[in-house]
Amino acid sequence: MTEEIAVIPGDGIGQEVTPAAIEVLETVGKFEFVEAEAGDRVKDETGEALPEETYELAASADATLFGAAGETAADVILPLREAVGSFVNVRPARAYPGVDALRPETDLVFLRENTEGVYSGHENRLSEDLSTLTRVVTSSASERLAEFACEYVSDGEYDGFTVAHKANVMRETDGRFREDVLRVADERGVHADEELMDAFATHVCLDPEQFEVIVCPNLAGDVLSDLAAGLVGGLGLLPSANIGEDNALFEPVHGTAPDIAGEGVANPTAAILSAAMLLDHLGYAEESARVDEAITSVLEEGPRTADLGGEASTEDVTSAVVERL
Ligand code: NAI
Ligand code: MG
Repeated sequence: MTEEIAVIPGDGIGQEVTPAAIEVLETVGKFEFVEAEAGDRVKDETGEALPEETYELAASADATLFGAAGETAADVILPLREAVGSFVNVRPARAYPGVDALRPETDLVFLRENTEGVYSGHENRLSEDLSTLTRVVTSSASERLAEFACEYVSDGEYDGFTVAHKANVMRETDGRFREDVLRVADERGVHADEELMDAFATHVCLDPEQFEVIVCPNLAGDVLSDLAAGLVGGLGLLPSANIGEDNALFEPVHGTAPDIAGEGVANPTAAILSAAMLLDHLGYAEESARVDEAITSVLEEGPRTADLGGEASTEDVTSAVVERL
């Protein structure tokens, strides 16, 4: 293992949970870590939230580990996802034993389109009274996501996937998305069903066990995966992977948590699970599984951070994971 990992801690608790993820990676392997700046702090200093050298580093590294950015999040993470050529955001939301979850039976994976939809940046202020947004949906991006989804569920662990959309109202854009995704699934012989995304929001709260893998447009994936975070015990637990053709970026779903930043009490689970996804992506499936086992055991037996009802620090939890490894 001599892969180069770009490390971009960013702002707030990004500075606290990213070192935890690195400590875990150093325990199971040998990587070359190269750190770079992005976010509010570097913008205050230089006027740029995402310096050119950080973008270039993410684009050239074998993988990137990102923490979080504050007010500048959109200026940082959207171009970084582009730098690694990411077309899908993989967001598992799983309830761990020992964690007080609203729905302990939850075990979901969201596959979120990562390049277009309402996040394409085509917003306009047309008058004092009127602002508009142009939503972009292409067949090429929808089909690429569907192909990834078919591949993702083909390892035998899943029965298929559910497409969440709102094609009954956004007939042209979500209509295209729905049609392309279902067609690709059909061509590949993968079982796919569909739900209107608002109905999905209700059904996933009432009975999350009826779903496994959910394929959705950009904004829907953002919102519905955060909703799932609520079902499994909070944002401190959810990792994510932004996957591209030959590059990828891994980040916790949570932000900079200004209410607890600087106190050393942030839950490092999401960042550590993101590191586990990074290991898996680079082909270190065994190491990834070991990290997953170690954090699962710590979540079950403690120590726990305050968001999970404990009193432990970020450092305490990280050390407990490293000890088990
Ligand atoms: P947030 O995720 O930072 O915090 C929401 C709540 O969850 C807070 O009460 C926080 O304390 C808690 N929380 C989050 N992660 C936690 C962890 N690891 N351990 C314990 N508690 C945790 O979301 P919020 O408050 O909406 O946004 C704060 C800032 O973060 C904003 O400036 C926003 O722009 C930015 N943000 C950045 C993201 C990114 O860089 N990818 C994603 C989401 C928000
Ligand atoms: Mg979000």
